[in-house]
Amino acid sequence: MENNVFEQMAQRYDTEDRMELAKVIVKEVRPELQNCQSKTLIDYGSGTGLVSLELTDLVDSILLVDSSKQMLDVAKAKISHKGITNATVLYSDFTQDTPELKADIVLLSLVLLHIPDTKKILQELFNILNQGGKLIIIDFDKNDIINHPKVHNGFSHEDLKEKLSEAGFKSINIKTFHYGNRIFMNQDASMFISSNIK
Ligand SMILES: C[S@@+](CC[C@H](N)C(=O)[O-])C[C@H]1O[C@@H](n2cnc3c(N)ncnc32)[C@H](O)[C@@H]1O
Repeated sequence: MENNVFEQMAQRYDTEDRMELAKVIVKEVRPELQNCQSKTLIDYGSGTGLVSLELTDLVDSILLVDSSKQMLDVAKAKISHKGITNATVLYSDFTQDTPELKADIVLLSLVLLHIPDTKKILQELFNILNQGGKLIIIDFDKNDIINHPKVHNGFSHEDLKEKLSEAGFKSINIKTFHYGNRIFMNQDASMFISSNIK
């Protein structure tokens, strides 16, 4: 896989600011995982595991998937250091090749903005979910101040709802839950959570 920006920043990814933001995300995601003790979760674009390694007590198992090997190396070291027994990692990029996997829950935290073809990745994730499974997306609301060639400048709720519906999701919910200073490419921004059932 190409040597992307995340490969270079893996060792210094867990800054105070990112850890603070991850805490806000964890607080929002945990209520989505009530009564999920027997469920499997894929954290797609897990990075160093800032979010999903705080969810391991709520589900049966977590697979952290990322297209950056070095981000996963940091996650793996944390899993071992914390003695977590129900989390493993997988180096993969579903936009290139989707492995034969199934899960009850897929989590995408601050990843969708990095994937150019939103429609295609939503379709791949839909296919991986078991019937009745849940896709949870955390990302930034559309922000016209931001302009970057490789990153979506957030998502409009209407546009994302349409793409989720086209991918086949039946119950689609999106709500903004956090406003923060300089949290999206150094600009003030808001984040949404989207919870969708297959
Ligand atoms: C901003 S980080 C978010 C990390 C983590 N989810 C969190 O909330 O702390 C984005 C992550 O997505 C990964 N990523 C980007 N494009 C990807 C792709 N096509 N497939 C898998 N992972 C990808 C990057 O390597 C990086 O680790």
